[in-house]
Amino acid sequence: MRQALLVTQLHSGSHDVARILSSLTDAQAEREFLTGAELHLPRLHELFVRLYGDRPDGFERLASIVDLARRSWVSRPRALKALDRERASDPDWFESERMLGGVCYVDRYAGGLSGIRDSMPYFRELGLTYLHLMPLFDSPEGNSDGGYAVSSYRRVNPKLGTMEELAELAADLRRAGISLVVDFIFNHTSNEHEWAQKAISGEAGYEDFYLIFPDREMPDAYERTTREIFPDDHPGSFVQLDDGRWIWATFYHFQWDLNYANPAVFEAMAGEMLFLANQGVEILRMDAVAFIWKQLGTPCESLPEAHLLLQAFNAVLRMAAPGMLFKSEAIVHPDEVVSYISPDECQISYNPLQMALTWEALATRDGRLLQQALERRHALPAGTAWVNYVRSHDDIGWTFADEDAAELGIDGYPHRRFLNDFYVGRAEGSFARGVPFQENPRTGDARVTGTTASLAGIEAGDAGGEDRVILAHALALSTGGIPLLYLGDEVAQLNDYSYAERAEEAGDSRWVHRPHRPAERYADRTDADTVAGRVYSRLTRLTEVRRSTPEFAGNELVAFDTHVASVVAFLRPGDVGFAVLVLTNVADSPAEIDAVTLSGLAPEALDLVAVHPVWLGAGLTLAPHGVRWLRVRLR
Ligand code: GLC
Repeated sequence: MRQALLVTQLHSGSHDVARILSSLTDAQAEREFLTGAELHLPRLHELFVRLYGDRPDGFERLASIVDLARRSWVSRPRALKALDRERASDPDWFESERMLGGVCYVDRYAGGLSGIRDSMPYFRELGLTYLHLMPLFDSPEGNSDGGYAVSSYRRVNPKLGTMEELAELAADLRRAGISLVVDFIFNHTSNEHEWAQKAISGEAGYEDFYLIFPDREMPDAYERTTREIFPDDHPGSFVQLDDGRWIWATFYHFQWDLNYANPAVFEAMAGEMLFLANQGVEILRMDAVAFIWKQLGTPCESLPEAHLLLQAFNAVLRMAAPGMLFKSEAIVHPDEVVSYISPDECQISYNPLQMALTWEALATRDGRLLQQALERRHALPAGTAWVNYVRSHDDIGWTFADEDAAELGIDGYPHRRFLNDFYVGRAEGSFARGVPFQENPRTGDARVTGTTASLAGIEAGDAGGEDRVILAHALALSTGGIPLLYLGDEVAQLNDYSYAERAEEAGDSRWVHRPHRPAERYADRTDADTVAGRVYSRLTRLTEVRRSTPEFAGNELVAFDTHVASVVAFLRPGDVGFAVLVLTNVADSPAEIDAVTLSGLAPEALDLVAVHPVWLGAGLTLAPHGVRWLRVRLR
């Protein structure tokens, strides 16, 4: 027995790697795959030793995953292998100034996958290069958390289309220069997934796929240090099964967390990941990354093993689908957000801090917290990028660092309360029409939902509403990274309160900002007498300018201190001695920047949006909510 254990357990060092590689040669693996495996297997092995070193099945699992990757590579369509090569020869492709993302729900925006295909001329009109289709997999009827409860990763929800259609759409999009992005919801499955069904019925090999406990002892112990994520649905991190046992469910009660301490779970999920890779998905949005590893006595969020797991998935991907990217979805403290971003882990990431602080600045008419964040938290490692957005399908959480705020004399807790009150229209002088989300009376915690137009003041008829929509997008388009539009926001779509009448949505106010495609507003987009027309033409002017401004590529940003609290300003360096100066005034009144402040720049500048010269020699006045993109020469 002991002998057998020694044979199967993972060894550190190169012994295991050599064994696996030699078995591959025997198995006529393609030379290309071998080259990739030689490069990435040592790293995967090391990660496996750290994650699973003491498990007797560790080695077998690793060997079997490498074989899975080999088979996946062998069957990878030729066009995708060509794409892998193209990406390898242009590894910074996603940092280009031409990148522009869009995100939508397949059913709500277009009825189904064929409707998405019919929308392609519009996506081209917008200049999209990245299209995130919200969860489109098979999921439970009724409430499925908007598809974030997945019952099969290999089956498209039949109401939307088929997997074949998805693969064809991916190919069409690729030919149009648009990368398909889908969610990889790997922290949990729905309770209807076959793994879940097998686990609760005790089928051999599946008992350890989830975290199931016979009584409250362990759940109580874990909950001493975990946080409640969806308190409206259930308190704590566990829900009770019909047979009285308790199962880990961080989000909704029908979303059961997987047990990644079991390497069989890693292998199973790697299989689903590679399946999606070969359908032509180019970017996987790694859902809820902070939650994937649990350990008693900790918050069970962003543990070191969560990073090791992501790196292990990434290593598998590098062997079998090397052109793909991971996008991290970590809506947590800014220190934690960046910890997921590296070429070896997630190459791109939502930028929740910039998003939240853009709204913070608009509410307070004070840009200092955002300016400080750009100054100290915007830089990223080479080979990675932010995904900058104004709002997503989720709520807005105020994830700024209290210690940063304290430096500016701002107390985090009451400030968050103010922001919540402001954006749900409870604070005096508020222009916003947001709705509270997951208000927790016990902790005072809450978040905010609403479309960009409704949050910015258009719904309330505030005079600054349209300008604020433009300003918020102008920041997402100019700070560096992939700008991501929530489709519908570019025509100033308003909140849709009808969710409250549908049983499966009524308890989740995020539906207020996930409306159906606003056909009338899209029809108005060429009519300058309409809100939609004005917002659309101003916004698309900015996207057009971004596309032709090489300074907007990459992530380099130098904060520019204007000494005006309402002004957020930075330089995006370009050719030696030149830069684009971005100036943004979040106040409802004009802002004056004096000549001395601008004296480090040559007085002749070019306004890139209006395309006319600007004289900086006498200072500059920014309009209320004004945005200027100026090409300047540094002196
Ligand atoms: C992510 C999604 C969110 C979902 C949750 C659980 O945070 O963005 O919509 O509710 O994961 O999957």
